[in-house]
Amino acid sequence: MIDIKALSKTYIVRRLTDADIEDIYRLCSTNPQYYIHMPPPVSRESIIADMCAIPPGVTADDKYYIGCFDGGRLAAVLDLIDGYPEKGVAYIGFFMVDAAIQSCGVGSVIINELCRYLSDRGFASVRLAWVDGNNQAERFWLKNGFSKTGSIERDDKTIITAQKILNPIFA
Ligand SMILES: CC(C)(COP(=O)(O)OP(=O)(O)OC[C@H]1O[C@@H](n2cnc3c(N)ncnc32)[C@H](O)[C@@H]1OP(=O)(O)O)[C@@H](O)C(=O)NCCC(=O)NCCS
Repeated sequence: MIDIKALSKTYIVRRLTDADIEDIYRLCSTNPQYYIHMPPPVSRESIIADMCAIPPGVTADDKYYIGCFDGGRLAAVLDLIDGYPEKGVAYIGFFMVDAAIQSCGVGSVIINELCRYLSDRGFASVRLAWVDGNNQAERFWLKNGFSKTGSIERDDKTIITAQKILNPIFA
């Protein structure tokens, strides 16, 4: 069980609901280049689908589709799965910062605070993936201490997998 309010000291973090769809859509629409790597372009329908999507082996209780708010403004969206692909691992399925406030350290603050929280709770690692060629994502994750672990071919794309070890003793 993740206490999402404790994930950040800098931002207000809460679960996103149907009432937030317009704000999520607005934020995602500021990042058209992301959808060149991960088509189709964002739509309200794709956001609703993402809100509900859960990988195999976990339940809806393990999924945290959350927003990081700066004042009342949605600054970032994070899709976090507790216990995927195995217990003790947290999986970031999606992370996006409003383009209007990118390259100011917002993404790094959120991810570093998240990793600190997960590390303190005994999580072994955080895992994620990006599409090969999404240089923005690759540089960001490598800069924030993630290491490539492999690659998967899917739908004519190469997906780069990566992880950050939090508690080496358990990893
Ligand atoms: C990746 C992302 C979350 C970073 O958020 P951010 O708030 O800009 O991150 P920070 O300001 O903390 O860090 C900026 C770092 O991101 C990387 N970065 C940002 N824009 C970049 C670009 N256009 N090209 C290459 N790297 C870039 C760099 O490593 C940069 O640090 P540097 O300038 O010191 O090299 C944000 O750019 C984003 O939402 N992108 C679209 C969605 C996405 O690709 N998400 C990751 C999916 S796996």
